[in-house]
Amino acid sequence: MNEVNGDKKIKVWDIATRLFHWALAVLFCLSAYSAFQDKFGLYADMHRNAGVTILILVAWRILWGIVGSDTARFSHFIKSPRAVFQHLKQSFSSLPYKTIGHNPLGGLSVALMLVLLLAQAIMGLFASDGMIFSGPLSREVSGSLSSDLTNWHELLGRILIGVVAFHVLVVLMYGVFKRVNLIWPMISGNTSGEPSTLAPRMKPGWLALLLFIVVGATVCLSVF
Ligand code: HEM
Ligand code: HEM
Repeated sequence: MNEVNGDKKIKVWDIATRLFHWALAVLFCLSAYSAFQDKFGLYADMHRNAGVTILILVAWRILWGIVGSDTARFSHFIKSPRAVFQHLKQSFSSLPYKTIGHNPLGGLSVALMLVLLLAQAIMGLFASDGMIFSGPLSREVSGSLSSDLTNWHELLGRILIGVVAFHVLVVLMYGVFKRVNLIWPMISGNTSGEPSTLAPRMKPGWLALLLFIVVGATVCLSVF
């Protein structure tokens, strides 16, 4: 095991979770940007394709949260309200940051983002601007349901932009105020911890890939 200033180098995020995160970040920016352009041609394709890929990614991430590596599992980072509150109190103290993986507050925000993204992408499938741009399943439901889902899609899209901006702000604030770099582990996969820290168990990349192919095929066959 590598030693960094007496600390142990610990693998905290598997490659699949890291690829998921950065792909999601890029696709979300494309979805949000194209949402406010005239949605025909390039921007319509961009909005639809980025959104459906987000749907596949998030559906995959939910399964990976059940069968994936320790730090990716919901059971590892969804904590009781009491633990979230304790963590909040500790955040404002000068105690060192020792969490390996998502902290209780981060875990809650991850779950919230995943649920909102899933709902947003699914509603998009049934949305329509009533003229030239429609989700691939908008004709499968009544006009009034499609119109309701479109309104919710427009509202939730704006809320999500705020939630994601807050997510990035909080990550940056950890760096500035607590001197904790959360970004580098999400890039390299590694963090450092006390020598006594047990390394989380990682699941193989091929399992993540296999799951991704199954989820991707299922979503594409259901949507197109
Ligand atoms: C450049 C901008 C971004 C930065 C610097 C960033 C940074 C991070 C970091 C450091 C984490 C790990 C937090 C931890 O240690 O607990 C994380 C997790 C996460 N971020 Fe971001 N993020 C960015 C953009 C986004 C965007 C645009 C989205 C959503 C659309 C997003 C969604 C998520 C999710 C869902 C997780 C949980 C990852 C997982 O467990 O699979 N992030 N982000
Ligand atoms: C998570 C990914 C997505 C985000 C963040 C997102 C965001 C948005 C936002 C903010 C709007 C409103 C734009 C405005 O008011 O002018 C919008 C409109 C729309 N989106 Fe999405 N969207 C996503 C996924 C999808 C998907 C997968 C589809 C299906 C192809 C889709 C189809 C539509 C349609 C048809 C509209 C037009 C509604 C209208 O403006 O009348 N979206 N989207």
